Amino acid sequence: MEKLWGGRFTKATNELVEAYTASIGFDRKLAKEDIEGSLAHVRMLGACGIIGKEDAEAIEQGLMTILKKIETEDVEFRVEDEDIHMNIERLLTEEIGPVAGKLHTARSRNDQVATDLHLYLRKKTQSLIQHLEAVQRAIVEKAKAHVHTILPGYTHLQRAQPVSFAHHLLAYFWMFERDKERLKDGLKRINWLPLGAGALAGTTFPIDRGQVARALGFDRIYPNSVDAVSDRDFVVEFLAAASLIMAHISRLSEELILWSSQEFQFIELDDAFCTGSSIMPQKKNPDVPELLRGKTGRVYGHLIGLLTVLKGLPLAYNKDMQEDKEGLFDTVETLEGALRLLAPLLATMTVHGERMRRAALNDYSNATDLADYLAEKGVPFREAHGIIGRLVLYAIQNGKYLLELSMDEFKAFSPLFESDVYERLKPENVVAARKSDGGTAPEAVQAQLELAESLLTP
Ligand code: ARG
Repeated sequence: MEKLWGGRFTKATNELVEAYTASIGFDRKLAKEDIEGSLAHVRMLGACGIIGKEDAEAIEQGLMTILKKIETEDVEFRVEDEDIHMNIERLLTEEIGPVAGKLHTARSRNDQVATDLHLYLRKKTQSLIQHLEAVQRAIVEKAKAHVHTILPGYTHLQRAQPVSFAHHLLAYFWMFERDKERLKDGLKRINWLPLGAGALAGTTFPIDRGQVARALGFDRIYPNSVDAVSDRDFVVEFLAAASLIMAHISRLSEELILWSSQEFQFIELDDAFCTGSSIMPQKKNPDVPELLRGKTGRVYGHLIGLLTVLKGLPLAYNKDMQEDKEGLFDTVETLEGALRLLAPLLATMTVHGERMRRAALNDYSNATDLADYLAEKGVPFREAHGIIGRLVLYAIQNGKYLLELSMDEFKAFSPLFESDVYERLKPENVVAARKSDGGTAPEAVQAQLELAESLLTP
């Protein structure tokens, strides 16, 4: 079959070349965006008198028919037609005859594919923001129930200072909040319209790019046609934002895996969200968070992949850029799948508050408060730190926690210790004492919760 661009050729394309260069296998995902862009383009061509009104209407009707057929999967895409753009043009020709050939007036596949990608990414970015919010909402709900649940906070994975479980969970809320901001910021640049750039240099036809931009909901047009068809920064930015979202999901997953281990037993994931072992009957495995953690790798891979594709490309369009799509689609699907699971995974997990509290009691994570206690009584903090360090060493050597030391033992390290030290050392009081803005005390966490909730769409 003759190619759309066959005029200049004397031979049919080699079959291997055809298969190797075709993108229809994956860019069919852009079918709707491609038609959306074509509709705006053809209306503009008609309105500007570049093609006849009747021709424009015939093309518009034809495109609508194809759109319906695509929705009911009543179309056949062919590798011989290379990509989604030429497949749709062929379908249009079958539908309305040779007038279909007028659609590509004042346009190139280069500005067309870039426009499709902008449209696709806008839609996906908006829906991912909603998915992120659903996760944030699940976090807020869990946090509300656990303002007073205490667990050891860790640094270096060593017990450091006790914190409220709500506070710990809400740390992830803010990560996802920044992720949302990054995605929203990306929309500013996704909302630039490339269409009208032609192959690279603009067009001889009197087009109205502003009209197309308004019709498609873009904020502005690319001011430079060469940049318009060469730019994939907006895809890189999205992949970078997606990578960071996956990093956050992965860190949270790692904690869920640790917490649900026999060693911690801080939480239990719902049976519906775990899987078993084919040999060990007792096993209940946290496969979901493990896969969330594991899938982070492919998203990072796609980011590095695209950066590498772009780094040596001369302006303007190069076929290399067709490699922008599969990684992007996979990233979007990976992210949607992850966020969709994460919300119910968090909502359904059981929190073993008593186990957490016991862990916070059976350690030395109240030692900082003991140093603060002496510092409040005028001992320079550095000196207080040294005294408490020696006291902790003494306690460890004698198999006791700080709350189990006698008054005499305390006094042996500093005469400033009084009996109120015991109250001070209880995990509840250690947590309650951290009232500073953004701290873990219940009032501070409550204020944080209110702020978090106010950022969610009601
Ligand atoms: N399938 C191509 C891509 O995804 C569309 C643009 C083709 N342009 C060209 N000059 N060959 O990049």
